[in-house]
Amino acid sequence: MTVLRNISQLATCPADSAQRDAGLIDQAALVFDTTQILWAGTEQMLPARFADEESIDCRQRLVIPGLIDCHTHLCFGGWRGNEFEMRLQGRSYQDITAAGGGIRSTVAATRADTTGQLLEKALDALEGMLDLGVTTVECKSGYGLERTAELKQLDVYRQLDKQQAVDLVPTFLGAHMVPDEYQQCREDYIHLLCEVLIPEISAQKLARFCDVFIEQGAFSIAEARQILTTAKKAGLGLKVHADQLSNGGGAQLAAELGAVSAEHLEYADEEGIQALAQAGTVAVSLPLASLYLRERYMPARQMLDCGVKVAVATDFNPGSAPSYHLPLAMTLACLNQQMTPQEVLMGVTTVAAMAISAEQRIGSLLPGFSVDITIIEAPSVNHWLYHFRANACCGVLKSGQWVKNLC
Ligand code: NIG
Ligand code: FE
Repeated sequence: MTVLRNISQLATCPADSAQRDAGLIDQAALVFDTTQILWAGTEQMLPARFADEESIDCRQRLVIPGLIDCHTHLCFGGWRGNEFEMRLQGRSYQDITAAGGGIRSTVAATRADTTGQLLEKALDALEGMLDLGVTTVECKSGYGLERTAELKQLDVYRQLDKQQAVDLVPTFLGAHMVPDEYQQCREDYIHLLCEVLIPEISAQKLARFCDVFIEQGAFSIAEARQILTTAKKAGLGLKVHADQLSNGGGAQLAAELGAVSAEHLEYADEEGIQALAQAGTVAVSLPLASLYLRERYMPARQMLDCGVKVAVATDFNPGSAPSYHLPLAMTLACLNQQMTPQEVLMGVTTVAAMAISAEQRIGSLLPGFSVDITIIEAPSVNHWLYHFRANACCGVLKSGQWVKNLC
């Protein structure tokens, strides 16, 4: 058993509290064994039965649940630094894709790389994420767009999950784009997804969720409905890339099909927001994609005020969000989306856990939860997100083990 003492602020992030209330306890202590959190409260109230247990002095730092990045495209070949400059010169993301760049160029690079090359690169990113205090990462396929290359990405995730500390939650995003070779017969690609890949991936438990990019140039509502309905019947949870570059009714479809989350939503309208609120679908905001594409931000304030739960994630990918810096995304959500620091913290802990259907186990530091703990060099949540620094994380426990020693 271990006692963390002298915590300046502890954020318990209860799943059943309003998003604005991160369950903060000042001058706190936290007790856990190797499997679960046992007790959380003010240090003054620490029960006498824990008095002789091994204790660690947190030296007036902030203690929070291990961060959850609930939307990434972690495994990809190559980078797209050339497009960064093109976009700065005024070319749009859609233009670049239409000219053969964008997702299509990453598909070519991902198909060309070996499993080992992809694995090494994704591992490097995961090590960087863990160093920032991230202990769980959702990770999508979607740069293969053919049977072998989609399975290769999912295989990378399966291997990486066993090799390192961060927990991976894989999502099948075969419906990211219609690949070039199927442009003239897109129904054949949808047939491949529904009749071959979804059944195979579900049978081999290679993914927990299925995601579809609904957008002009990607998939229509009718196509998405067909793919997602097939995935649901095969036992996969549902996610949707919705309303990112235009309003296409993706939020309503996510709500109608009982998707666990709808992501991006920069162009979601009042009707879409109401639909998400009624269905209890989590909205996942990706402020780094808005920053890099110089696009509008998801209307997170309006959503929260309508009762929608809002998670915050990086969208880490080589095009629209080439950074896995979740704390940077968090500060952007405060500054550009009028989310409070507590709402944002809930958005990367318990609400992010809801977006991957794991809120019974992770995302909170109440008794019974996993021992995924991040220690931050700041006295409070407010101070952490206000005083942005390269890396404020100074210690991480994953499943009860120190994976970044307290410094
Ligand atoms: O979430 N919107 C679709 N997919 C990614 C971008 C992928 C890329 O540009 O490679 C996103 O922003
Ligand atoms: Fe994405």
